[in-house]
Amino acid sequence: MAEEKKDIRDREDIAKVVEAFYQTAIQDTEIGYIFTDVAKLNLEAHIPVICDFWETVLLGNMVYRGSVVSKHIELHRKSALRPAHFERWLSIWLIVVDGMHVGEKAEEMKKRASLMAELMKHKINYFDSNPNALV
Ligand code: HEM
Repeated sequence: MAEEKKDIRDREDIAKVVEAFYQTAIQDTEIGYIFTDVAKLNLEAHIPVICDFWETVLLGNMVYRGSVVSKHIELHRKSALRPAHFERWLSIWLIVVDGMHVGEKAEEMKKRASLMAELMKHKINYFDSNPNALV
């Protein structure tokens, strides 16, 4: 019998979700190139930063000190991030979270990702109309 799905409890659970997400996302035909060719990510260095972000958001340990929106604006300046990219990103995220967990934190992880995607679409749209504004 398959193991019953549990909620996300700690950083280890977060790390497993983030790793599973990247395994799919970097190979994805719609958004994979952004990680591999545009950002040329070193996943070993990148994944702990993403885990810091989620540990801050979900567990309340204030370990993430970056600026998520400005990172993606920088990325967008190199290669356009379109609403379709965010939709694809989010659909992979939802499938991965649902495939691994069930519960309050899992719901929050999906909701916060979705809110962040909306915020970034909005900020990028604003940036495109006002490229000299500080975002
Ligand atoms: C179009 C969709 C997205 C793509 C292609 C994308 C891609 C990337 C890439 C390539 C980086 C590394 C940037 C760099 O270090 O140069 C990054 C950083 C990051 N992304 Fe995304 N991302 C997307 C959407 C999101 C969303 C919706 C979230 C919501 C939680 C998110 C969370 C993060 C975080 C926390 C970082 C780390 C920022 C830092 O280094 O401080 N991303 N993303």
